[in-house]
Amino acid sequence: MDADTQKLRAAERALDYVKRGMKLGLGTGSTAAKFVDLVGARVKDGLNILCVPTSEATRKQAEALGIPLATLDDEPSLDLTVDGADQLDEQLRLIKGGGGALLREKIVAAASQRMVVIADAGKLVDVLGAFPLPVEIDRFGIRATRARVEDAAREAGCDGPIALRNIDGQNFVSDGGNYILDCSFSRIADPVKLGLALSIVPGVVEHGLFVDLCDAAIVAGPDGIQIIGEGP
Ligand code: A5P
Repeated sequence: MDADTQKLRAAERALDYVKRGMKLGLGTGSTAAKFVDLVGARVKDGLNILCVPTSEATRKQAEALGIPLATLDDEPSLDLTVDGADQLDEQLRLIKGGGGALLREKIVAAASQRMVVIADAGKLVDVLGAFPLPVEIDRFGIRATRARVEDAAREAGCDGPIALRNIDGQNFVSDGGNYILDCSFSRIADPVKLGLALSIVPGVVEHGLFVDLCDAAIVAGPDGIQIIGEGP
C-alpha cells in the first residue's frame, strides 16, 4: 500500500470521530485534503456539521464541496479538529507546517476540545527532527530573527542549517503574511524545551512543534491502522 492510500485509509477512519452537529476544524495538506473530500461527501448525504478551515486552500476546497463554513470569530470553540502532520511521535508530539499553515492550524487546534491527527506510517518516528521544523516569523528583520532562533535552538540542544523558505525563487508567504524558516535540526531531543525557547524569540510568530495539543493519531501503514491515544 503506497503512502497516498495510507493517507486515505487514515482519513476514512477519522470519520468515526465526527458526530452530527459538531463544530469541526479542517486541517491543511494532502492528508487533510482527503478527509475534507470525505466530509464533503457526508455533507452531500445530509450530515449536519459546521466547519472552520485552517488555511485559505482548505477554505476553497471545502467551499467548493458545499461544506458549511464559519470562522473562528463566529465559533471560537470547536468540538474536534482533524489535521495531518509532518512527523509525530508516540507521545503525540508533532511537527507541522510543511505546507506553511502552522499558525492557523495551531490556533484552530488550541480552540478545539480534541485534535486528531491522520498520517501515513512513514511519519511516525521515535525522535522528531528529521523533518525540518517550520518556524513562522515576521517579515521585519529576518536576519536578526534567524540569528536569535539559532541561539535559542542551540540553548535547547539543537543545531543545524536554517533556511528561509523559498518557492520558485520567491520567499514563501503564509496566509498570515509571514515568512517561514525551515530548521534542519535532525534530532529534537526535548521538543518542550525547544518550543518554549523559540516562543520567546522576538519576531517568531509561531513554531511548528505541537505539544499537548493532539489527543489521538490515526496512523495507517501497510499492515493496517494504529490508533495512538483516544478512540472515537
Ligand atoms: C500544513 O502546514 C502542515 O502542517 C500539514 O498538515 C502537514 O505538512 C502534513 O501535510 P501532508 O498531509 O501533505 O503530508
